[in-house]
Amino acid sequence: VLILGFGISVDTCQSIAYIGYDTCWFLGVIVDYDSCFVDSLDKLKEEGRYRQFYPFNRLVGNYPLARSNDASIVTLWCSNDYLGMGQHPKVRQAMIDAINTYGAGAGGTRNIAGSNGLICDLEEELASLHKKERALVFTSGYVANQTTLSTLAKIIPGLVFISDADNHSSIIEGIKSSRAVKFIFRHNDMNHLEHILAQLDPASPKIIVCEAVYSMNGHIADLRAICDLAERYNALTYVDEVHSVGMYGDEGAGIAAMQGVMDRVSIIQGTLGKAFGVIGGYIAGSDIIVDAIRSQAPGFIFTTVLPPPILAGALASIRHLRYSEEERILHQLTVRKIKDKFTLGEIEFIANDSHIVAVMVRDPVICKTVSNKLLSEYKIFVQHINYPTVPQGSERLRITPTPMHNDVMIDDFVEAMKQVWYELVSSGLVSSCADN
Ligand SMILES: Cc1ncc(COP(=O)(O)O)c(C=O)c1O
Repeated sequence: VLILGFGISVDTCQSIAYIGYDTCWFLGVIVDYDSCFVDSLDKLKEEGRYRQFYPFNRLVGNYPLARSNDASIVTLWCSNDYLGMGQHPKVRQAMIDAINTYGAGAGGTRNIAGSNGLICDLEEELASLHKKERALVFTSGYVANQTTLSTLAKIIPGLVFISDADNHSSIIEGIKSSRAVKFIFRHNDMNHLEHILAQLDPASPKIIVCEAVYSMNGHIADLRAICDLAERYNALTYVDEVHSVGMYGDEGAGIAAMQGVMDRVSIIQGTLGKAFGVIGGYIAGSDIIVDAIRSQAPGFIFTTVLPPPILAGALASIRHLRYSEEERILHQLTVRKIKDKFTLGEIEFIANDSHIVAVMVRDPVICKTVSNKLLSEYKIFVQHINYPTVPQGSERLRITPTPMHNDVMIDDFVEAMKQVWYELVSSGLVSSCADN
């Protein structure tokens, strides 16, 4: 194709050009691909939503300290390695041993290359942790949610999803790609959930989908009430325990365990990438549910299985956290200290009973400014959380204390937050009373 003449822009990404093809001349429209990308980036920058990822290397033995590219040492306050297990000596040793024994990679999908012993052990461990018949490991928590939820709708014709309004993107994508009918209940609102359930045909299959600890506001779900409603209206339950496994309940089995309803939840989903410190996701449930997902979920079947060192690291981490309460106790203590000091310092955060401390800023540019100031002036890193991770107008700082944050770090952090916060309040940029 020979393009002659100048293009004139008729719409975003499109230009008109005279196109010569063989001997035939005609007026055509061509797409200016580069301008599509540039326009979309410009829009993000204008709205203060352009994402920048700072390069930090976490230092073994010194977490939550990390070294940034300019060699300065920074204290991290927003990692999801909630208990520091990513650096735990037992986890590191297990990974080294696995790599030396089994090598670096898994060699393909389980469909093609078979299951190795480590993944079978890991699935048994997870099933036992959640007191379920069976578990299935995926490459991430995201994939576990997305592929399990969309596959459930293929397995159960006419399945209706009833999903909490604050559910994670991976849940939303799973439900969306299932193309099944869905209803959204107001976040943690049991009356609204019941209202929806009561209106559905009693004969239609349904599943209630929620998180145990909501990642962006730290609210804890009332799983007992959800299970009661599920039983009353004959629905299945799917609970994402990504932000609770390892940290709550007996042996770190999560919120369902803590609330005494683990046996009443149909499918528990979790991650190996947060409190367990490595990467991977899973579901646990009855033998038939898990077997049906294993046999039909594209996100399980058509992707390479996690490599041996990851499986060994996850196994070591889960086994450690099942018997050791120390990390969980220290974690909660640090969270309490931060919340108490924020309250004294009049830094308002979302009230919850979990470890997630969300300071509301409600403006993407100011949120980024706070984050940048903490980093440049105090060597403290807290990532600003903007849309689409949270709704527009609810931008926030999401602080995640760990058992490794000592009293000096806590005091330094609270002082820095106070300084930055008061500067913004006194300049009128943020309200002194964030909404709880
Ligand atoms: C609630 C929730 N579910 C699932 C995921 C995805 O888990 P993973 O990071 O293991 O992919 C996340 C990630 O942050 C999450 O917040």
